[in-house]
Amino acid sequence: MANLRIEASEGRRVPLGRWFRGGRLDPHELCRQSRVAIVAGKGGVGKTTVTATLARMASRLGMSVLVVEVEGKSGLATIFGGDDLVYDEVVLAPATPEGRGEVRARTLTPDLALLEYLDEHGMKRVSRRLSRSGAVEVVATATPGIKDILVLGKVKQLERAGAADLIVLDAPAAGHAVRFLMSPRALLDTVTAGPIQSQAAEVLELVTDPARCQVVLVTLAEETPVNEVVETAYALEDKVGTNLGPVVVNGLYPVRAGLDVDPEAVAGPLGFGLRPREAEALRGAAAFRMKRQDLQAAQVARLADALPLPRLRLPALFDVDMGLPQIDQLADALATEIELLEATP
Ligand SMILES: Nc1ncnc2c1ncn2[C@@H]1O[C@H](COP(=O)(O)OP(=O)(O)OP(=O)(O)O)[C@@H](O)[C@H]1O
Ligand SMILES: [Mg+2]
Repeated sequence: MANLRIEASEGRRVPLGRWFRGGRLDPHELCRQSRVAIVAGKGGVGKTTVTATLARMASRLGMSVLVVEVEGKSGLATIFGGDDLVYDEVVLAPATPEGRGEVRARTLTPDLALLEYLDEHGMKRVSRRLSRSGAVEVVATATPGIKDILVLGKVKQLERAGAADLIVLDAPAAGHAVRFLMSPRALLDTVTAGPIQSQAAEVLELVTDPARCQVVLVTLAEETPVNEVVETAYALEDKVGTNLGPVVVNGLYPVRAGLDVDPEAVAGPLGFGLRPREAEALRGAAAFRMKRQDLQAAQVARLADALPLPRLRLPALFDVDMGLPQIDQLADALATEIELLEATP
């Protein structure tokens, strides 16, 4: 696994060796790197949107995809035009007539994962009594980190069972994502034997094996999200030892040329008469957009300096709703960005 600190101190060399065998990478290759992709980042930066985008891109390449939501209602099903997700799998997008590219989704909650675990391990009566008495919460909160292990344990089971070609997990917001992924290590420090210990050990194996799991961090090109994504990347590498995939920089304003041209100077020769207030409004809009472009360019450069990981840029869409056509647009943009990545010598 690439070591971020060493790579950073060597001067921004992007450690693409893991992804690139022949100098270039294609979207299919990236999706096949590991069976589980965990999408993480600060609250509101677009984790759920990127989860949907990645899932859609992989499914269009013919891969079967299972999306897993772990915290409350993410809004993911709405994007695909479905109802809120439940513990049991639902089909969000059907397979092609050839039977390829299905997108399924489910939500994983610690209590239902625990009951299922007990059922599957010959403790049906215990599980029924627990669910009737409401004691699940007590059991689940008795050991810190156990809830996360129950959820990640279920993800591990799905991965082991080959539930899909790609499992995309919409992770909790950044700070919690680190705790979430640290849970197996933390538990192994305190629990030395028994089923919890073996579950934690197996989950740790999953989240630290680059062939099985990668973390895709998402950020916006803004000061605080960039700071947080850098911090999270190092924390995940140092404290958990996860394999980091490319960083997705979401919500970028498309760069427009000619914003510094005076609107009146252009409008006149073209035969448009602009009132002074209209010209002023256009100048204001252009100034705002230029400032925004400069700001985001500076933040992307800062991110590149601080984090030696390849970046995949996604545009901000200005549609009112985020539905399948918008996700298709983002999936196209993501595929193009992956194809544009080049291995540095
Ligand atoms: N590229 C984009 N263009 C336009 N709107 C976007 C884009 N990405 C995300 N959004 C919008 O921004 C909002 C937040 O996105 P999203 O729900 O994916 O973030 P999140 O990181 O999952 O948030 P949370 O931390 O609350 O789970 C949503 O309304 C979403 O539709
Ligand atoms: Mg979300």
